[in-house]
Amino acid sequence: MPGLLAVAVTLGACAGASAPEVLVDDPQLEQGRDIYVRQCSSCHGSTGGGGRGSKLDEGRVIRDFPDIDSQIELVTAGRNSMPSFSGKLTTDEIVAVVRYTREVLS
Ligand code: HEC
Repeated sequence: MPGLLAVAVTLGACAGASAPEVLVDDPQLEQGRDIYVRQCSSCHGSTGGGGRGSKLDEGRVIRDFPDIDSQIELVTAGRNSMPSFSGKLTTDEIVAVVRYTREVLS
Protein backbone atom coordinates (compact mmCIF):
# COMPACT_ATOMS: atom_id res chain seq x y z
CA MET A 1 0.00 0.00 0.00
CA PRO A 2 2.41 2.70 -1.12
CA GLY A 3 -0.29 5.39 -1.00
CA LEU A 4 -1.05 4.85 2.66
CA LEU A 5 2.62 4.78 3.51
CA ALA A 6 3.13 8.12 1.77
CA VAL A 7 0.29 9.65 3.80
CA ALA A 8 1.75 8.33 7.02
CA VAL A 9 5.19 9.67 6.16
CA THR A 10 3.75 13.07 5.21
CA LEU A 11 1.76 13.33 8.45
CA GLY A 12 4.80 12.28 10.44
CA ALA A 13 6.91 14.88 8.70
CA CYS A 14 4.36 17.60 9.49
CA ALA A 15 4.23 16.72 13.15
CA GLY A 16 7.99 16.38 13.34
CA ALA A 17 8.71 19.58 11.44
CA SER A 18 7.06 21.53 14.21
CA ALA A 19 9.03 21.68 17.40
CA PRO A 20 12.82 21.68 17.10
CA GLU A 21 14.35 18.24 17.62
CA VAL A 22 16.51 17.40 20.60
CA LEU A 23 19.98 16.81 19.15
CA VAL A 24 21.64 15.48 22.27
CA ASP A 25 21.10 12.16 24.03
CA ASP A 26 18.94 13.43 26.87
CA PRO A 27 15.68 11.58 27.64
CA GLN A 28 14.42 14.39 29.86
CA LEU A 29 14.71 16.88 26.99
CA GLU A 30 12.93 14.41 24.68
CA GLN A 31 10.14 14.15 27.25
CA GLY A 32 10.09 17.96 27.46
CA ARG A 33 9.68 18.23 23.69
CA ASP A 34 6.81 15.79 23.80
CA ILE A 35 5.06 17.79 26.50
CA TYR A 36 5.75 21.07 24.70
CA VAL A 37 4.12 19.76 21.50
CA ARG A 38 1.05 18.49 23.36
CA GLN A 39 0.55 21.14 26.06
CA CYS A 40 2.22 24.38 25.02
CA SER A 41 2.64 24.72 21.25
CA SER A 42 -1.04 25.52 20.63
CA CYS A 43 -0.52 28.85 22.39
CA HIS A 44 3.21 29.45 22.11
CA GLY A 45 3.72 28.20 18.55
CA SER A 46 5.46 25.03 17.46
CA THR A 47 8.85 26.73 17.39
CA GLY A 48 8.16 29.11 20.28
CA GLY A 49 7.35 32.02 17.98
CA GLY A 50 4.24 32.89 19.99
CA GLY A 51 0.54 33.16 19.21
CA ARG A 52 -2.06 33.30 21.97
CA GLY A 53 0.90 32.97 24.30
CA SER A 54 4.09 34.97 24.38
CA LYS A 55 7.14 34.26 22.28
CA LEU A 56 9.47 31.86 24.02
CA ASP A 57 12.24 31.74 21.43
CA GLU A 58 15.32 33.86 20.73
CA GLY A 59 16.62 33.69 24.26
CA ARG A 60 13.54 35.26 25.85
CA VAL A 61 12.96 32.69 28.55
CA ILE A 62 16.58 32.86 29.70
CA ARG A 63 16.37 36.66 29.75
CA ASP A 64 13.03 36.76 31.56
CA PHE A 65 13.90 33.87 33.90
CA PRO A 66 17.64 33.94 34.56
CA ASP A 67 16.96 31.41 37.30
CA ILE A 68 15.29 28.17 36.08
CA ASP A 69 13.36 27.87 39.35
CA SER A 70 11.42 31.06 38.65
CA GLN A 71 10.36 29.68 35.25
CA ILE A 72 9.31 26.38 36.83
CA GLU A 73 7.27 28.41 39.32
CA LEU A 74 5.57 30.39 36.52
CA VAL A 75 4.57 27.27 34.59
CA THR A 76 3.35 25.61 37.78
CA ALA A 77 1.29 28.56 38.99
CA GLY A 78 0.28 30.26 35.72
CA ARG A 79 -0.07 34.02 35.22
CA ASN A 80 -2.95 35.98 33.64
CA SER A 81 -4.03 33.92 30.57
CA MET A 82 -1.16 31.48 31.00
CA PRO A 83 -2.81 28.42 32.57
CA SER A 84 -1.48 26.79 35.73
CA PHE A 85 -0.02 23.34 35.10
CA SER A 86 -0.12 22.36 38.73
CA GLY A 87 -2.10 19.11 38.86
CA LYS A 88 -1.94 18.70 35.06
CA LEU A 89 1.78 17.91 34.89
CA THR A 90 4.01 16.42 37.55
CA THR A 91 6.96 18.45 38.87
CA ASP A 92 9.30 16.26 36.81
CA GLU A 93 7.27 16.91 33.66
CA ILE A 94 7.31 20.66 34.31
CA VAL A 95 11.08 20.57 34.79
CA ALA A 96 11.41 18.62 31.52
CA VAL A 97 9.34 21.05 29.45
CA VAL A 98 10.98 24.09 31.04
CA ARG A 99 14.43 22.65 30.23
CA TYR A 100 13.27 22.06 26.65
CA THR A 101 12.21 25.71 26.27
CA ARG A 102 15.52 26.92 27.73
CA GLU A 103 17.93 24.51 26.07
CA VAL A 104 16.37 23.61 22.72
CA LEU A 105 13.66 26.13 21.80
CA SER A 106 15.60 29.18 22.90
C1 HEC B 1 -3.99 28.62 26.71
C2 HEC B 1 -2.75 29.15 26.16
C3 HEC B 1 -1.44 28.75 26.80
C4 HEC B 1 -0.94 27.48 27.02
C5 HEC B 1 -1.59 26.15 26.71
C6 HEC B 1 0.38 27.67 27.58
N1 HEC B 1 0.66 29.00 27.71
FE1 HEC B 1 2.37 29.82 28.44
N2 HEC B 1 1.57 31.67 28.30
C7 HEC B 1 0.35 31.97 27.77
C8 HEC B 1 0.11 33.41 27.85
C9 HEC B 1 -1.13 34.14 27.37
C10 HEC B 1 1.26 33.96 28.47
C11 HEC B 1 1.50 35.42 28.85
C12 HEC B 1 1.03 35.56 30.31
C13 HEC B 1 1.01 37.01 30.80
O1 HEC B 1 0.65 37.89 30.03
O2 HEC B 1 1.34 37.22 31.97
C14 HEC B 1 2.16 32.84 28.71
C15 HEC B 1 3.40 32.97 29.31
C16 HEC B 1 4.32 31.95 29.43
C17 HEC B 1 5.67 32.10 29.91
C18 HEC B 1 6.34 33.40 30.33
C19 HEC B 1 7.05 34.01 29.16
C20 HEC B 1 7.84 35.22 29.55
O3 HEC B 1 8.90 35.44 28.95
O4 HEC B 1 7.39 35.97 30.44
C21 HEC B 1 6.26 30.86 29.88
C22 HEC B 1 7.67 30.50 30.29
C23 HEC B 1 5.24 29.94 29.41
N3 HEC B 1 4.09 30.62 29.13
C24 HEC B 1 5.47 28.59 29.26
C25 HEC B 1 4.47 27.67 28.90
C26 HEC B 1 4.68 26.25 28.90
C27 HEC B 1 5.97 25.54 29.23
C28 HEC B 1 3.49 25.70 28.53
C29 HEC B 1 3.15 24.24 28.41
C30 HEC B 1 3.40 23.40 29.57
C31 HEC B 1 2.55 26.79 28.31
N4 HEC B 1 3.18 27.97 28.55
C32 HEC B 1 1.23 26.64 27.90
C33 HEC B 1 -0.55 31.08 27.23
C34 HEC B 1 -0.42 29.71 27.26
